[in-house]
Amino acid sequence: MSQPTQAVIFDLDGVLTDTAELHYQSWQWLMDEMGIPFDRQRNEALRGLSRTESLETILGDKSSEFTAEQKAEIARRKNDDYLSRAMKMTPADLLPGAGELLNELRRRGILIAVASSSRNAEAVLDRLQIRPLLDVLVDGNDVPNSKPNPRVFLEAAERLGVPPARCVVVEDAASGVAAARAAGMRVVGIGPAERVGRAHRIKPAIADLPADELLELPEA
Ligand code: G6P
Ligand code: MG
Repeated sequence: MSQPTQAVIFDLDGVLTDTAELHYQSWQWLMDEMGIPFDRQRNEALRGLSRTESLETILGDKSSEFTAEQKAEIARRKNDDYLSRAMKMTPADLLPGAGELLNELRRRGILIAVASSSRNAEAVLDRLQIRPLLDVLVDGNDVPNSKPNPRVFLEAAERLGVPPARCVVVEDAASGVAAARAAGMRVVGIGPAERVGRAHRIKPAIADLPADELLELPEA
């Protein structure tokens, strides 16, 4: 039996809100314009990766055809487009069940963190108006190595003052599930098994995750 859970660490994009879709739409728009092959399936591999790593993954072998300045400009254009979409969000864009789960965990005295590779996490949380429900936020501005590096989750646990074995992570990315495991944490995967199959438990959506089940998650 695992140790009792003291903290839940949520990924943001694709877990608490559907910004994963907005990231996809921005990359698709830009890659169509540039004539670079891209689609939803290729986008799956980008979940949890930083902006720069996402671009490198999309370009693949073509990466060396672009200068550092050109890549910075592509990343800037992607982010401008993403922000124009994301800054239209309201609290109604929290995914079903997400607000209820956060409130229930708080009611039970469980500590809550968001750990995201995004450098826009704070702005998105402000749009959703859930910043006051969190004890800790760690994002791509704090931690240079994005998932699957465990650093973002270890940093969240450290700031919460909770050992990794007493943290549970909720993630929608293959890279995020790998990062949580590398951090020595239990992890619930949100989405298809092809993506989050390495998680200790898999759920189609956060609405399907009762607080009891999350807090009593055994180790695999
Ligand atoms: C999240 C998303 C990724 C995104 C990354 C960087 O982790 O899952 O798809 O590329 O954040 O986001 P940013 O907002 O900094 O471009
Ligand atoms: Mg995500």
